[in-house]
Amino acid sequence: MSRKFFVCGNWKMNGDKASLGELMKTLNSAKVDPSVEVVCGSPAVYLDFVRSTLDAKFGVAAQNCYKVAKGAFTGEISPAMIKDCGAHWVILGHSERRHVFGESDELIGKKTAHVLENGLRVVACVGEKLEEREAGITEKVVFAQTKFFADNVKDWSKVVLAYEPVWAIGTGRTAPPQQAQEVHEKLREWLRANVSEAVGDSVRIIYGGSVTGGTCKELGGQKDIDGFLVGGASLKPEFIDIINAKQ
Ligand code: PGA
Repeated sequence: MSRKFFVCGNWKMNGDKASLGELMKTLNSAKVDPSVEVVCGSPAVYLDFVRSTLDAKFGVAAQNCYKVAKGAFTGEISPAMIKDCGAHWVILGHSERRHVFGESDELIGKKTAHVLENGLRVVACVGEKLEEREAGITEKVVFAQTKFFADNVKDWSKVVLAYEPVWAIGTGRTAPPQQAQEVHEKLREWLRANVSEAVGDSVRIIYGGSVTGGTCKELGGQKDIDGFLVGGASLKPEFIDIINAKQ
C-alpha cells in the first residue's frame, strides 16, 4: 500500500515575522517533490500570518490547542480558532508538551478527540525517554501512548503518527535508521492488532528527532518510515532537502 510521504516542520517557539517571512519566501520558491505532503507548524500567534504567506500547496499546523471549544481558559487556543486562521493540522502530545508542561495522556487524548470532532487533522506524537529505552521498555511506553490516541480516534485517515524518541529531539543524536524502523514496524503491528489491518497498513508513521539534510535519506528509505517531524532543521533552507529526501 502506498502511503503519501509526509514532512512536518515544527518551528516551536522560534522566529519572528521577519525571519519566518524569509523562510516562507524560500519555501514558496523552492522546487519541492509534488508527491510529498508538507506542513509547517507555526507558533499560534503567527498562524494567520503564516497561512496567508505560505503557498497553498503547503499545509499549516498549530503546535498545540485545548480540549474544548471556548471559555474561561486564559492563554489557550481552540481548534475552532485554528481553523478560523485557515490551518488544518494540530500537533498533539509532543514530548515538550508532555515533559516540559506536564501534559498527561488523558489530556492529550481529550484534545485529540476534540480536534478531530472539529474537522482538523492531528500529528500524534509518541516517544520514549532515554531511561525508558535503556530499561528496555520502549515498546511498552510507545504502545501505551498510542493507545490513548487510539481510544480517541474514529477516523485514522485524519491522523499521522509521529515516533519521536525524546533523547533524539534537539540533541543532534538522530536515532539509527534501523532502530527507528524497528519501532515504526512495531507501532504498525500494534495498530494492525488493536485498531485494524487496514489502519495498520495505511497510517503514516513519521520519525522525528534531529532529522537533518544529512540523515533524512537513509531514514526515509526505511520501509515503515513515511516522513518526518522536523524541529531545528525546519527553520533552515535545509528543510527543502528533507522534503525531497525520497528523490
Ligand atoms: P528536532 O525536533 O528536529 O530539533 O530534534 C524535532 C521535534 O521536536 O519535533
